[in-house]
Amino acid sequence: MTALRTPVIAGNWKMHHDPASTRLFFERFLALHAPRTDLTVIVFPPTISLEAARLALVERADVQLGVQNVHWESAGAFTGEISADMAMAAGARYSLVGHSERRQLFGETDADVARKTRAVLAAGLTPVVCVGETLEERRAGRANDVVDRQLSQVLEAVRDAAGLVIAYEPVWAIGTGETASPDDAQAMHASIRAQLASASNTAIPILYGGSVKPQNTATLLAQGDIDGALVGGASVDPQSFAAICATEA
Ligand code: PGA
Repeated sequence: MTALRTPVIAGNWKMHHDPASTRLFFERFLALHAPRTDLTVIVFPPTISLEAARLALVERADVQLGVQNVHWESAGAFTGEISADMAMAAGARYSLVGHSERRQLFGETDADVARKTRAVLAAGLTPVVCVGETLEERRAGRANDVVDRQLSQVLEAVRDAAGLVIAYEPVWAIGTGETASPDDAQAMHASIRAQLASASNTAIPILYGGSVKPQNTATLLAQGDIDGALVGGASVDPQSFAAICATEA
């Protein structure tokens, strides 16, 4: 992490916390986490709990909200989907795009991810674009190529990459308890940074995700090109998420 970029700790709740348990989460979390100006904290609740989260945060503008997925169109006959404009109107300021679970379980392609990133930016939200290789791809020595390809399509689709946040999440480290070693993560972050630099954007925050816990956050954040964390499992519990937010690199 470098002083040039404000660190980001983001919690991806996935399909956890209904509106009632969202209220409870924030009651506990806000009691443990005092506002900080040197850290950006973002929570991605399920969309159905976004309003409960917004109300819980009325007096805590230091904690930002995001949605986990949007459609690329702004409105239309797309049963079950929400648009980036709707997310913005409902209080979100960020959207995850291309999380590996969306890619793997719901068939999202690189082209979909690029379209969604464009829609998210057009709505005035900040996209947190997720990239990362599978174990098979890493073993075959293709990790860099895969991430490069995933990122290229996004960079080609946006006119200005300055408004992006990137999250590197090796698929084999998500929800498995297995974290990329700080050195491996740093190496991939540096390669992403180099790719962004050729698109002239070194100020873009690059977050690491994949089994981030209170115990491993400091070592990860101590790496020069790791600007924060995208936390899944450990963000669902207010105590562990507060502990992660309290970590100093
Ligand atoms: P995890 O998930 O922290 O549970 O591994 C991270 C993510 O999928 O964003």
